[in-house]
Amino acid sequence: MPHLTIHPVIADLEKQIIAYRRHFHQHPELGFQEVETAKYILDQVKDLDLDIRHPLVRTGIVATMSNGDGPCIALRADMDALPIQETADPPYKSQNDGVMHACGHDGHLAILLGTVLALDQLRDQWQGTVKFIFQPAEEGEGGARYMIAEGALNDPDATAIFGLHVWNYQDFGTIGIRSGPVLAAADEFEIIVKGKGGHGAMPQGTVDAVYVAAQLVVALQSIVSRNLDPLQSGVVSVGQIQGGQNFNIIADEVALKGTARAYREEDRQLIKSRLEGACDGIAVTYGAAIELDYHDGYPPTLNDPVMTEVALRAARKVAGDGVGEPYLSMGGEDMAYFLQEVPGCFIFLGSAKPEHKAEKVPHHCSHFDFDERALAVGASVFIEIVRDLLPAGS
Ligand code: NI
Repeated sequence: MPHLTIHPVIADLEKQIIAYRRHFHQHPELGFQEVETAKYILDQVKDLDLDIRHPLVRTGIVATMSNGDGPCIALRADMDALPIQETADPPYKSQNDGVMHACGHDGHLAILLGTVLALDQLRDQWQGTVKFIFQPAEEGEGGARYMIAEGALNDPDATAIFGLHVWNYQDFGTIGIRSGPVLAAADEFEIIVKGKGGHGAMPQGTVDAVYVAAQLVVALQSIVSRNLDPLQSGVVSVGQIQGGQNFNIIADEVALKGTARAYREEDRQLIKSRLEGACDGIAVTYGAAIELDYHDGYPPTLNDPVMTEVALRAARKVAGDGVGEPYLSMGGEDMAYFLQEVPGCFIFLGSAKPEHKAEKVPHHCSHFDFDERALAVGASVFIEIVRDLLPAGS
């Protein structure tokens, strides 16, 4: 394992940071309902000299720490949990039935809270302003977008933003950082195929919506394999099909739902237009009516090259050789919205426990957990980013 250099102030705070994480884990709340979570955060920082804006977008918090002249940078954590019943039994098991921090946002909150305390103690080592953004509803509802609309990045204006994700797809002790796209655009589509029903034994005169839907499912798979540049990434998945009444009745209507993902905006637009083309073409071919409803989800998460260098320098101070390419996926993240507004970097913090090496515990599973030693690593990286971008005496 690479040698880790935890910032001494973070080392002193580590027990507290782990206690924060366990508190959040025990008391998870769903998106836009993070009322107790917000109260707890505010209570922990009430004695510090911070400018607090709350509630922003119901439960969000922007805490601004000013420390002399200098630029303003933002650090961000997401607050929400998932509608999952925890099945493992750690001492800090969720006390809220059916709700669980199964993505690690409890860790992000603890890291950011620890960073607030540490930067307050380290005021002689940096100069400028740091905005701590605690945003609600990352899981699907795009809380980040609303926080931006309510001015989370303004007054004073942030010139850079950084966020991180505990990442069980990487071993503890590693940090994944790279410039460019790191998470995908995550869109959703619904398709209704309308045909003409009839007797299963007499297809003449009918338009079989099940058959047409099946053609469509096959056709959609050609978008990535035949239209997308093979050196680029995209995926189209149909996750749900519903239709039909009985074994001997030709269905008059079938509904399909799926997701489309891409790393680049142009690939996203290509997938979207080919989807429309496939629906129109198959409708004409088979005499059906096909309606497509395409919902834009989160945009691709794009790291800025300059800020990625800052993050790399900071991470190498902490994890040395443990810093490398992130484990990438076609998942989406609403950090993407912040990164559309200001340059920044989203960092993947290796958090798989050594005993999970062979069979890793994935995010969003009901027995999700991570190596809590990653918390001090993450907070140390944030400290080093601030010291890099906002050096004392500048
Ligand atoms: Ni997450």
